[in-house]
Amino acid sequence: MKSKGQSRSSKKEKRHASEIENFAPLENKTIILGVSGGIAAYKACDLASMLRRNGADVHAVLTPNAREFITPLSLSTLTRNPAHCEQYGQTENWRPEHIDLAKKADLILIAPATADIIAKLASGICDDLLSSMVLASQARVMVAPAMNPNMLNHPATQRNLDILENRFRYEIIPPEFGEVACGDVGSGKMAAVESILASVAARLLVHRTLSGKRVLITAGGTREPIDPVRFIGNRSSGKMGIAMADAAAGRGADVMLVSTVEVNRSYPVYVVETAQDMQETVEAEFDGCDALIMTAAVADFRPLRVSSQKIKKTESEDLVLELTKNPDILDLLGRVKRNDQIIIGFAAESEALLSNASQKLKRKNLDMIVANDITVPDIGFGSDDNAVIILGADGARENLPRMPKRAIAEHLCDLLAEKLSEIEKAPVS
Ligand code: C5P
Repeated sequence: MKSKGQSRSSKKEKRHASEIENFAPLENKTIILGVSGGIAAYKACDLASMLRRNGADVHAVLTPNAREFITPLSLSTLTRNPAHCEQYGQTENWRPEHIDLAKKADLILIAPATADIIAKLASGICDDLLSSMVLASQARVMVAPAMNPNMLNHPATQRNLDILENRFRYEIIPPEFGEVACGDVGSGKMAAVESILASVAARLLVHRTLSGKRVLITAGGTREPIDPVRFIGNRSSGKMGIAMADAAAGRGADVMLVSTVEVNRSYPVYVVETAQDMQETVEAEFDGCDALIMTAAVADFRPLRVSSQKIKKTESEDLVLELTKNPDILDLLGRVKRNDQIIIGFAAESEALLSNASQKLKRKNLDMIVANDITVPDIGFGSDDNAVIILGADGARENLPRMPKRAIAEHLCDLLAEKLSEIEKAPVS
């Protein structure tokens, strides 16, 4: 027979156990746990187990060197998923394994990250499954370095970490100070698994910062018809706007994309051609939106008359096209914008970048403008990368060095979420 005290404590224990079982903040999150070859690899076992117990679907990927420290079996048992090591291993379906894993991930966490994997990631080398997968993925990447303090302090490692953090916008979970495995004392011990778990949870949960917000985004370059076969267009590829829409959707926003480029997405995409089509769609949706992000390159002019037949060559050496001004969508909506709405404009400039952008910011009554210099080779139009200056109506100014458009989009989403939460907190006047 149990004593009263025993039965009370076992009830309490049961309740506690079921609370732990039901506490799964990382539910529906797929995390790739990348493990590279340092002594701290043994801590990846604890991390894998903690992440899984917090509800995440964890897939471990070991570098060949990591296998010298821990076995795939430990990680597959703790994650309850197969652990992956081989870049050219057997696949269950036709798609290469690293692409499959890369597409699945909400987040890639590399813990421990050695100087070697950090150097590979910084320079884009992909000679194993983990580095290939990171390169192929659009997911957020977090890196927990672990190495000897001299290796960490070496200018090469510092430069590589700087590239990961500031160019690729990977999140570095700083190593701790203490005695490392070889007996040296300094900074280089991998952060405690509890603090890595907290950073991961913060990153994944904070990610839904635009949940419940309606965000209207435009993408691409408008085409203004001259006749049935010709148009006036521009070099915009739509990549920046699509990256913005993907990033906002990833944060839980209710996204509407108005685009001149067709894309297949889970959020609604309205495909338009001309500035007037874009204006009509954007104006119809604007009132119900919390934010408008105009990344589209909208033609300032269109042919006054559109020929119904293909214009033929004539004896004359010249053809004169008469153009008329298009509506400036941003300008019009800036005038009717409510205080609880945010408008972000883009400015692609070939000269006087800052002064042109700041004039547009004011003239169009924007909350923020993202300016880029189109004379810089290899970035901007058509490229996957850009380098921009962000100006805020509050006087804020931030330079983002060259980085993938998706990383710029993520940063802009951070700024947008901050602005929208300031609006929510502001007293109703
Ligand atoms: O004045 P400018 O064309 O350089 O301003 C660029 C910003 O204005 C971009 O955000 C672009 O989407 C928007 N724009 C617009 N309607 C136009 C021209 C530009 O909304 N007719």
